[in-house]
Amino acid sequence: MGSLSAMSPAEDPDAGAPPWWRAGVLYQVYPRSFADSDGDGHGDLGGVIEHLDHLEWLGVDGIWLSPIHPSPQADWGYDVADYLDVDPGFGSLEDLDRLVADARARGIRVLLDLVPNHTSDRHPWFVDARSGPDAEHHDWYVWADGRSDGAPPNNWRSSFGGPAWTWDDGIGRYYLHNFLPQQPDLNWWNPAVGDAFDEIVRFWLGRGIAGFRIDVAHGLVKDRDLRDDTVASESDHERIRKHGLRSDFSMNRPEVHDVYRRWRRIADEHGAVLLGETWVLDIDALARFYGDGRDELHLALNVPFELSTPGPAMREIVERTEAVLPPDAWPLWSGSNHDAGRLASHWCDGDERRIRSALVTLLTLRGSPLLYQGDEIGMVDVPVPRARLRDPVGLRHRPDDPGRDAGRTPMPWTAGPNGGFSGANAEPWLPLGDVRSANVADQRADPGSILHLCRDLIALRRQREDLASGAYASLEMPEGVWGWLRGDATVVFVNHADRTVGVPNVDGEILIATDRGRDGEGIAGSVKLEPWDAVVIDVR
Ligand code: GLC
Repeated sequence: MGSLSAMSPAEDPDAGAPPWWRAGVLYQVYPRSFADSDGDGHGDLGGVIEHLDHLEWLGVDGIWLSPIHPSPQADWGYDVADYLDVDPGFGSLEDLDRLVADARARGIRVLLDLVPNHTSDRHPWFVDARSGPDAEHHDWYVWADGRSDGAPPNNWRSSFGGPAWTWDDGIGRYYLHNFLPQQPDLNWWNPAVGDAFDEIVRFWLGRGIAGFRIDVAHGLVKDRDLRDDTVASESDHERIRKHGLRSDFSMNRPEVHDVYRRWRRIADEHGAVLLGETWVLDIDALARFYGDGRDELHLALNVPFELSTPGPAMREIVERTEAVLPPDAWPLWSGSNHDAGRLASHWCDGDERRIRSALVTLLTLRGSPLLYQGDEIGMVDVPVPRARLRDPVGLRHRPDDPGRDAGRTPMPWTAGPNGGFSGANAEPWLPLGDVRSANVADQRADPGSILHLCRDLIALRRQREDLASGAYASLEMPEGVWGWLRGDATVVFVNHADRTVGVPNVDGEILIATDRGRDGEGIAGSVKLEPWDAVVIDVR
């Protein structure tokens, strides 16, 4: 096997410089929808390898691959049947080694998606677990008796709807699944589970993987006594009210931090990065996933940011995050992913001016930006007809909830058949939508495109220390404008108002503007911003 061992910090020539993931830009690849190299309508690792030139040209430093492990695909890979291999639909372990090596040769690291909250019901651990109460892996999962009337043990609800408990006839008890019944939750109170995951983590780090995105990072540990979740009240966030419960006992237990302290030590031995899917709506709770800033996760998903809207609400979240993160911690900013859909839709209603200003924001805040494939061309959600839904959430809840397919449709590489994602005769697993309105090839040929804006912003971050590592400070601005200083001499202004606004007392030169015709413009005294204009100015 062509394994690559990660450099130990001692041999790293960049020792002392900020770690790569701080100065760099991360990019989520959803492999099934990235590129299909074998014409079966599903993306694969070969497709990622074939498009590494795009990622290198764009300037990303690290890619996170959504799960590629063997899986029955009940939840499109988030139901893992073997943590140490690659699903044949995506390729082989050797293909993954090749991807890691080819990417590394282009300066790009590869992160895997680690799914430690639950396994597939077909994972050999669960198959063994349900073979009997004395089986070796029985206590690796969460089992409980029903109530006296036979009802499930407590009020926990699956995040995908319905009770979080399924009755197992063979065992004569319920098992827990905070997602699908095909995704039984692991019992993190059992030390054997932790040991097994330590080994999984070490296996991949030893094979050249640069870190992990940790699925459901807030959820691994459940209340030991399986107490009822608190019922949501009027004052809770809309998302919590929708779920009906606060998930304060079924997830979000303080003991989860022990897991991250343990993994942080392993990750640090390899110079690897841990990025958590910390699905919490409270910034103080989010900050806790960074521990003291050095001993838990390196990066934690900021869900309140992703769910907010560009403008004062987003500014408030950024300022709150800046205020509560421990000094050594580093924020992570993203607007899109395979669950939340695309920022071009939910933040920007598909409006190009707004998409451009959102990308300027994402790529100039203090922290690591995390792009989702397609963000770089301003890709919007693609409505998926009911007959073609693939997401179990949409399939369970149609017509009320179409699920997450609209944000998972394949990447349009060209304006040609199947957008160049798949061969012309293949049927892509999800429809592509209108590939002429946004695709990589056309935008690459147009220096004024969103793609070039994105690439130029990434390059500017790399060149300009202020943007890569400088502090963030909010600036006093006219109504409707969000302005901030990065480092010593870089300011960013974004006009969120639907009218032209002048920002006074600015001298300098525009480095990049959403209106690319203004790049290089000298500013003496004041700068005028049309609605949704964003500018990055050198005020040295
Ligand atoms: C995470 C994943 C999502 C998946 C769920 C259950 O939220 O991002 O896609 O359905 O976990 O694994």
